[in-house]
Parts: sequence; structure tokens; C-alpha cells
Amino acid sequence: MVNIAMLGYGTVGSGVVELVNSNKDRFVKGMNVGLQVSKILVRDVDKYNKNKYRAKITDSFDEVMKENVDIVVEAMGGVYPSYDYVKRALESKKHVVTANKDLIAEHGAKLLDIANANGVELRFEASVGGGIPILKSISDCLIGNNINSIKAILNGTTNYILSKMNDEGMGYDEALKAAQALGFAEADPSSDVLGLDAARKLSIISTMAFKKKVNWKNINATGINEIDSDDFRYAKGEGCNIKLLAIGRMVDENVYATVSPVMVKQNSSLGRIQNEYNAVLVEGDAVGDVMFSGKGAGMMPTASAMFADIADIIQNRKENPMMFDYDVACVDKFWEKESRWLLRIRTDNRIKVMRKLCEAFSSCRVMAGEFGEHGDEVTAIVKAKNELAIEECRSGIEKSVELRKFKKIMMMEE
Ligand SMILES: NC(=O)c1ccc[n+]([C@@H]2O[C@H](COP(=O)([O-])OP(=O)(O)OC[C@H]3O[C@@H](n4cnc5c(N)ncnc54)[C@H](OP(=O)(O)O)[C@@H]3O)[C@@H](O)[C@H]2O)c1
Repeated sequence: MVNIAMLGYGTVGSGVVELVNSNKDRFVKGMNVGLQVSKILVRDVDKYNKNKYRAKITDSFDEVMKENVDIVVEAMGGVYPSYDYVKRALESKKHVVTANKDLIAEHGAKLLDIANANGVELRFEASVGGGIPILKSISDCLIGNNINSIKAILNGTTNYILSKMNDEGMGYDEALKAAQALGFAEADPSSDVLGLDAARKLSIISTMAFKKKVNWKNINATGINEIDSDDFRYAKGEGCNIKLLAIGRMVDENVYATVSPVMVKQNSSLGRIQNEYNAVLVEGDAVGDVMFSGKGAGMMPTASAMFADIADIIQNRKENPMMFDYDVACVDKFWEKESRWLLRIRTDNRIKVMRKLCEAFSSCRVMAGEFGEHGDEVTAIVKAKNELAIEECRSGIEKSVELRKFKKIMMMEE
């Protein structure tokens, strides 16, 4: 009998318990092992007085660990006390499965070391892309490849908001409210809309893909909170919509890693990903482009990924133990390839700004204020040899003209 201790019984935890129960018989038949949930840790036991698992529910971690436990499933969230509980579980030689990207982005390397020192496994497939089996695909199925790049939509909340803005012409605030009403966005959406959630996931996926430790705090994250309906109008004029992309690329020995709104062609593989869906486009040197897409969150999709980790541990498929024992990556913050950019600059001296833009870039198309909300705005599409050229242009303009705002959105030619 395999005993599974649950830490957390909210959206994800209750989904895992459901899958453990619905798959029990299959495990007995296929592998001759039984599965059961031994204990469930929650914060507020009283909430569960009428729950059918009430006898297993406790608010004491020590009580959870007193039982005969084989696998600890952490679905509580947050870094503390999750870190202490996961560490104690690993040190007690229990395997751990977690969906917690905050925990893995912050302490993944340390916890993997502890797991390896204790001969147990720490698995975290659900921490990136919810139900999409992306980490295992990178570490197992694409093992013969050097991964050149990852381009991904890793946050369902922001993709939902951007989809509503693009498809239904909603403003940012209205789209955020719609996402909150449907439970896609939390009451405090800042981690999602500021791109921090995606940055944490990008750090985990990049560390695995590029075999260099990418600290999420070194990733430049620009959110979607300043994207407005004019941005979408300009994007549409170029045959694009706007997605919050997490991009990781190997550039010589460095890793370029950034989260930011990007204009992508409407009919491209990433441009077609709608609403709360996530997608990851991986470019390997042998396989070429491979696309993974699916539900990046939600009770059963996330539980599906966690249950697969549980099953792997039970089947003892430890061919490629996960380790983050890589060198720390030097993280580049500026896109180094030639690209087109939408620039929206607010200033009192439009003429001078236009002149500066035309001097700085060989290709510069100034829009004739089509949408005219801001009479003080210069809008242009420029072609720049790299992002640094945009930044140099910006500081050149700032030296001679007062700028109220400088917004840049890259256009991804795919
Ligand atoms: N929701 C998703 O779609 C999704 C997708 C991918 C990954 N994840 C990750 O999965 C994890 C769980 O998310 P969730 O949405 O399931 O959260 P949730 O619905 O808020 O559930 C959290 C559960 O953990 C318990 N808990 C929290 N802090 C605790 C503490 N200090 N001691 C004991 N129990 C505690 C809560 O107990 P009470 O019930 O008593 O409050 C609750 O049962 C997070 O790391 C999240 O990032 C979630």
C-alpha cells in the first residue's frame, strides 16, 4: 500500500485526492499496489466538519508525518511554511510532489539537493504550465536535444485578459474584472498581471532546458497592466495580437530570459492560444519546433500533472533524476536579434522626437495619430538591430526632450 499525505486540500489538493481515489483500482490491477490518502493537512479544520474525509483532516504537520507516509503531496502554496514542511518530509526520506512554483523558483536547487542526499524524489511538473507535461518532456523526451529557445504563454490569467481585450475590445480594467468573476484572477492579481508568476515559471523551465540556474529575480518582467486598447489597435493593423510571452534563449554562454507583452502574428502558433490556455514552444537543435498547449491551471488539469508525478514515483521511473546542480546563468535582459518594435512616446515636443526616431532607425514608420486619444503622443513602428538600440535611442531622446512615457512592444516575426 502506498500512503499519500496531502498538504493542502484546496482547489488542487482536492483534485489530487479525487484522482487518487478514481485511479486506485487501476493501480491495484496494473501494478499490484494499493493507493490511499493517509492524512490531509489544512489551516482551518472547522471548514471541513462535513467533509467525507473529516477523519483524515488535521491542522498538525506532525500528525501528518506520524502516519506511515510514502509520498507527501504539497498543494498549500506560498514559500513558508511550505519550504519547512517539504524539507522535513525529504529529510524523513519521503518523496515529495509539489505544484508550488513560488517554492521551486526560490528553493528548488536546495530542495533537490536534499532529496538526492536522502535518496528520494522531488517532483514539480505541475509548477509550470499546470496540466501540460512540459518539464518531463524536456528532461526525458527531448533529452537528445540542445534546447535553443523557449517561447511560452505561462499565465492563464493574463492570457484570458489579453484575449478579452483583443477579441471583445474590452479595456484592461473590464477584462480583469471578467477574469476575477470567473475565478481566473485572484482578488490581488498583481503577481499575474505584473508578470512575476510567469517569471518564476520561466526560471524553472529555463533552468531545466538550458542546464544553467536561472534565478527568477534576474528575469526582467514587464506585465500587462499598462497595455491599452490602442496597443491592440496598432497590433491589429500589423496582423498581430498581444500576448504576455515568457522567452528564454541560449545566447552563446548566457541565457536571455524575459517576460513581457509581445505582438505576435494572429495566425502563429502562439497567437492562436486563447483565454486561460497556456502554451510552450520549444526549439531543440534536433527536433526543431515542438509545441505543447493545454490548460495551465485549474483543479483537474493541475491534479493530472501531480498524479503523473505520483505514478512515476510509484513506478520508480528514476532514469534521469532531476537536479539543478548547474552553474548560475548570466541572464541577458535585452533581446539581441533584429526586430520591429511598436514605440509609443508621450512628450510635449513631438517633432523633435519624430526626428530623433527617424535618425536612430533605418526603418521608422510614424503613425499619423490614428487613434488620437493622446495629442502628445508619437507612435511609430521601427526596425532595430537589437533592444539595446531602442534603449540608446530612448536615453538620447531623454537628454534633449522631456518624456512623459516611453512604451515599447516587440513584434515577434514567426
Ligand atoms: N489553482 C490552480 O489552478 C493551480 C495551478 C497550478 C499550480 N497551483 C499551485 O498549487 C498550490 C495550491 O493552490 P490552490 O489553488 O489549490 O490553493 P488553495 O485553493 O488556496 O488551497 C490551499 C490549501 O492549502 C491549505 N493551507 C494553506 N496554508 C496552509 C498552512 N500554513 N498550513 C496548513 N494548510 C495550509 C489551505 O487550508 P484551508 O482549506 O484550511 O484554507 C487549503 O486547503 C499553489 O502552490 C499554487 O501555485 C495552483
